[in-house]
This record gives sequence, structure tokens and C-alpha cells, in this order.
Amino acid sequence: MEFSELIKKRLTTLNYTNKKVSNEDMNQIIESAIIAPSAKNRQPWRFYILTDKQKNYIADKMENWINNTGLVTTIKRSANLIRQVGNCVLIYSNKWSSDNIDRIKNPQKLLDGKDIENMVIMHDYYFDRIKADTLSVGAAVENMILKATELGIDTTWLCDVLFIDDVINEYLDLKDKELICGVAFGYRNQNPIRKGRYKKEYLIVGEENERKKLCR
Ligand SMILES: Cc1cc2nc3c(=O)[nH]c(=O)nc-3n(C[C@H](O)[C@H](O)[C@H](O)COP(=O)(O)O)c2cc1C
Repeated sequence: MEFSELIKKRLTTLNYTNKKVSNEDMNQIIESAIIAPSAKNRQPWRFYILTDKQKNYIADKMENWINNTGLVTTIKRSANLIRQVGNCVLIYSNKWSSDNIDRIKNPQKLLDGKDIENMVIMHDYYFDRIKADTLSVGAAVENMILKATELGIDTTWLCDVLFIDDVINEYLDLKDKELICGVAFGYRNQNPIRKGRYKKEYLIVGEENERKKLCR
């Protein structure tokens, strides 16, 4: 399938049959993820392919999640979807912690701006890393979703799992990892709706005048 056709074909599916994705297809999907680019080639992504029991446990906990933000409907819908769909994968990143604090040997020199090496480490680990690793995981997830689309498998990118990330991490005993999102993989029982997009003119917030000149 042509790339431009593939990216148009991909749509978020909200209703699934319970048909499973084959192991062979799941392997191809994971392999597509791990060839994604990543900041400093850190490859921060980790995958947890949920069993049916784990899927149902997470769906139960999401269904029972109650708050007063008005977001309950979304999480309930995602809970139903996780229960319905054949396969669900959770995508993790390395924990964003102060695990490298002990590499900062002399905090005073650092504060004085004289400890360049440690300033770089600080910047890398505390300021850039969260964004960079999350972007890397996003690249891997998009690869997975597009590969699935190519294989005729429907998908849903799920951040609603983050409402209960502590519960999930404790249940799966993955407390040293950061849950970024989930992805549902399966087969639709209803065609997804194609949603609208903003126009380019609204989205390009820089170089507007230059572009306008070029269009004239
Ligand atoms: C990072 C991310 C998180 C998302 N989380 C959810 C989710 O938790 N539940 C859901 O139903 N859809 C979720 N979606 C799907 C979006 O709602 C969907 O991509 C958007 O409405 C555009 O529709 P389309 O994917 O069909 O083009 C998520 C998408 C992205 C990129």
C-alpha cells in the first residue's frame, strides 16, 4: 500500500469484535515499533502485551474510576473498548526519576556554572529527557499503528489508561517504568468515523507572510 494511502486509511476505531490478532502480526507490529527513531538512540520504549485476564482487570478498574471532572464517559468508553478488543498493548518508557542525581559530583560548581559536563547531564536528564523520550515513544507507537493498518488491523491509541496508571503499574509490578499509553489492536464491527481537521492556514503559525508571498 502506498504511504499516502496508508496514512489516510488509519482511523481510530471505537467498536471491535473480539477476534484476536495473530502472534505473527503482533510480532511484526512490535518489530515496526523498535525501528523507530529515538532521542540519542535511547530506545526508551517497553511493551507489555496484556493477557485477557489483565485486560479485563484494567477495564474493571477503569469502569469503576469515578471523579467529578466530567471525563468519566471517555474512560468508561475506553474501558469497554479494552474489554471488547482482541489485543491491547501498554507502552512504557524509562522512569523519569532522579536516577542520575549521584552523577552530579559537585553541586556548588554546578550552581556556579563551572561544571559544564554535569550541566549537560542535568539538562539532558531533567529538562530534555521527558519530552524527548515521550516523543520517541510516540514515534514507535505511530509505527505500530501504521503497520497494523497495513496488515488490515484496526487500532485505538489510548491515553485513558493514564487515569489509573498507578493501579496498572502496581498490578503488573512495573513500578520502575513510566506508563505512556496503550494501543488496542483488533477488528472493527462498525466503520470508524473520519473526523475533521483544522486547515493548514490555521496550523502554520510561523512564516505566514513568506508563505503568502509564495502563494501569490
Ligand atoms: C496520544 C493520543 C491519545 C489518545 N487517547 C485516546 C483515548 O484514550 N481514548 C480514545 O477513544 N481515543 C484516544 N485517542 C484517539 C483520538 O481521539 C483520535 O486520534 C482523534 O479523535 C482523531 O481521530 P482519528 O484517529 O480517527 O483520525 C488518542 C489519540 C492520541 C494521538
